Amino acid sequence: MLGRLFLSSGDLIADRRYEFARDLQAKGDLAAAAEVLEQAIELAPNFASAWFALGEIRDAMGEASAAIAAFQKACAADPRDHHGAAVQLMRLGAAPLADMPKAYVQSLFDQYAPRFEAELIERLHYRAPAILLKAVHALRAAENRPAVFKRAIDLGCGTGLGAAAFANNVDAFVGIDLSPGMVEQARATGLYAELEVDDMTAALQKQPDASADLVLAADAMVYVGELAPVLQEVQRVLIPGGLVAFTVETHDGNGIVMGEGLRYAHSAEYIGHVIASAALTLSHLEPASPRTEDQVPVRGLVVIAAKT
Ligand SMILES: C[S@@+](CC[C@H](N)C(=O)[O-])C[C@H]1O[C@@H](n2cnc3c(N)ncnc32)[C@H](O)[C@@H]1O
Repeated sequence: MLGRLFLSSGDLIADRRYEFARDLQAKGDLAAAAEVLEQAIELAPNFASAWFALGEIRDAMGEASAAIAAFQKACAADPRDHHGAAVQLMRLGAAPLADMPKAYVQSLFDQYAPRFEAELIERLHYRAPAILLKAVHALRAAENRPAVFKRAIDLGCGTGLGAAAFANNVDAFVGIDLSPGMVEQARATGLYAELEVDDMTAALQKQPDASADLVLAADAMVYVGELAPVLQEVQRVLIPGGLVAFTVETHDGNGIVMGEGLRYAHSAEYIGHVIASAALTLSHLEPASPRTEDQVPVRGLVVIAAKT
């Protein structure tokens, strides 16, 4: 989906070996690629990109413990973890579920920003904002109320597709996103009254009580594992009667898991529980697929909760 993040080792020969290993990997010669990466690491033992690539290759070769060891080395070599080695460790069951490293989310989406919309809409049939719009309209219609809102906060706003979908329903949008590259694209739309580069929970903490009547998160909670902290802040900033609408990916088990696509999946039972514990009332929860992956619709849920 994306170009690879590369952090130079500072050693020209080690960097060249890395490039050579990636060529070998692209040609399908994984064993040779792993060997060349190990040579690069001998020259530059703290070469995070090489450790990460080695982890991916060992994983693809079915060598789980070697993959885990390499991803652990990648974390140690780059404590901010731009490559997301900790996310791979969660996926492999070698680390407990925790927050995604912020540097990873930022570099993932900064890289992605210039081609995000084309990639998502054309290739992955992305539809999370449209799903939210339809669900909010249906809920308000059932309540005999118009789906119009004065101030909406778009969590993980990305390039602004949420504001574009709700443009006729909302007077003023606040956009929050961790990725400066995505926020730059959102700013160019002219759809947001305010934009902030920050983690969604941290940014919500700066918003006044009862200052929004709608909070949206289209395909953004998939990058947030434990939802209790963000939903507690959402509850505080919503006015009574205000709504929060979001999509998640889901699974049949209990709680939260890290999916193969390196996004969290939340069970329906977890969503019900976390909404109630944030003192919100669940108004709507139903299956809805936000995107397609490998030609298969990803399993998801659309959720609306209200502050009563
Ligand atoms: C798949 S994109 C969706 C963007 C947009 N909502 C849309 O529908 O097109 C997910 C976005 O969530 C942002 N994100 C992920 N984790 C975040 C966090 N903890 N706080 C704020 N933004 C976050 C990413 O930077 C990215 O722009």
